[in-house]
Amino acid sequence: MTKKFKKDFIFGTATASYQIEGAAAEDGRTPSIWDAFSKTPGETYRGHTGDIACDHYHRYKEDIKLMKKIGTDAYRFSVAWPRIFPEKGKFNPKGMDFYKRLVDELNESNIKTVITLYHWDLPLWAHNMGGWLNREVIKWFEEYAVRLFEEFNDGVKLWITHNEPLCASIFGYYEGIHAPGHKNLREAIIAAHHILLSHGTTVKNFRKLNFKHSKIGITLNLTPSYPAADSKKDIKANSIFDGHYNRWFLDPLFKASYPRDMEEIYKELIGNFDFVRDGDLQKISIKNDFLGVNFYSRELIKFSPDSGLKFRKVHGNFERTEMDWEIVPEALAKLILRLREDYTIIPIYITENGAAFKDRISRDGKVHDNKRIDYLKNHLKKVAELNQKGADIRGYFLWSLMDNFEWRFGYSKRFGIIYINYKTQERILKDSAAWYGDLIRTRIIK
Ligand code: BGC
Repeated sequence: MTKKFKKDFIFGTATASYQIEGAAAEDGRTPSIWDAFSKTPGETYRGHTGDIACDHYHRYKEDIKLMKKIGTDAYRFSVAWPRIFPEKGKFNPKGMDFYKRLVDELNESNIKTVITLYHWDLPLWAHNMGGWLNREVIKWFEEYAVRLFEEFNDGVKLWITHNEPLCASIFGYYEGIHAPGHKNLREAIIAAHHILLSHGTTVKNFRKLNFKHSKIGITLNLTPSYPAADSKKDIKANSIFDGHYNRWFLDPLFKASYPRDMEEIYKELIGNFDFVRDGDLQKISIKNDFLGVNFYSRELIKFSPDSGLKFRKVHGNFERTEMDWEIVPEALAKLILRLREDYTIIPIYITENGAAFKDRISRDGKVHDNKRIDYLKNHLKKVAELNQKGADIRGYFLWSLMDNFEWRFGYSKRFGIIYINYKTQERILKDSAAWYGDLIRTRIIK
């Protein structure tokens, strides 16, 4: 069935600083935790780092031309905090200048700007002073955020404080699979609290500026989950997974409290919550203008007596992407309906959705990524259907504009609608880019 998108629905693409910029030591940038992590032997695929990445720092004009060619309405990128404050309290105009030029170029091309303040590249100086475990980090983050708000002065369509606090805290401090690579649940829960708190206080600072056009929100990666079997144990395990991945972030933001069941479980494992102070949850639950949702897949959950939180992820029979993630667009619908019923009615933007597949350049010099087109089509159909039912999803940002540094998987996973030849930095529009462009022009999905 044909589905239609409204004229003002925003179709964008998304990227993040460390994944695309390169120029790691240029114009005064100092290292972030991801520079340190990726240079630690064994942490990333074949020791890949973001030193050069897609060289976007030097090629942003060419990249914006490609966005224009595709016809996207908006571009979501993140700012590298260590470019703006390479040392504690020391503003770096040269680093700022890059983002000013980038936004000027976007404006000239009629592409709306969406900025993420934190997409995981914490300055190493901040990490060395305790990073997200030190409550002081909230002040450092506010200083950085307010400086950017003032520099861009109401000229940015959407501000996103944090991208996926789950990954920055749980993956980085508990699972050890992201920077800084720690494996300590107490640290992860403290980091999550400080990240959420820095969101709240930053939104408060933003409000003081009384901008007329710019809006602010946060982006969560939310994963609908299902018990593997209809057994008491799997149902309980699934509820813990959901608490750990989803509710731990949604509840404080929208209900001003941490989920009780999870609080009990965590307290058994990590001790008291002395890092939560009176008034913190009120600050965290400040009103947002919108919620950003990153959606990729679902999880199927089984009871697992040997793991710390007593669950493990298993697979169902759905087709999977190169990340081994099941392709289940229906789960996106389940997620949005849940958000609407249980949490919030503020506008939603899908701030990331997309898929990695094994892309190859064919003999004709093109990249025929039909699987990606199918993935995008089926998810966007769901978005259109949800909006027809009144879900109020205002935009969709495809992950990603271009192939890039996929964190610990290095350059081995390609998510882009633009193919990057990392040896030459040549860019090739994949078939999915043409498909996306057609959709944006016609607003019709077949
Ligand atoms: C992140 C991106 C990442 C993508 C695919 C999201 O979790 O925000 O940085 O590349 O998923 O893994």
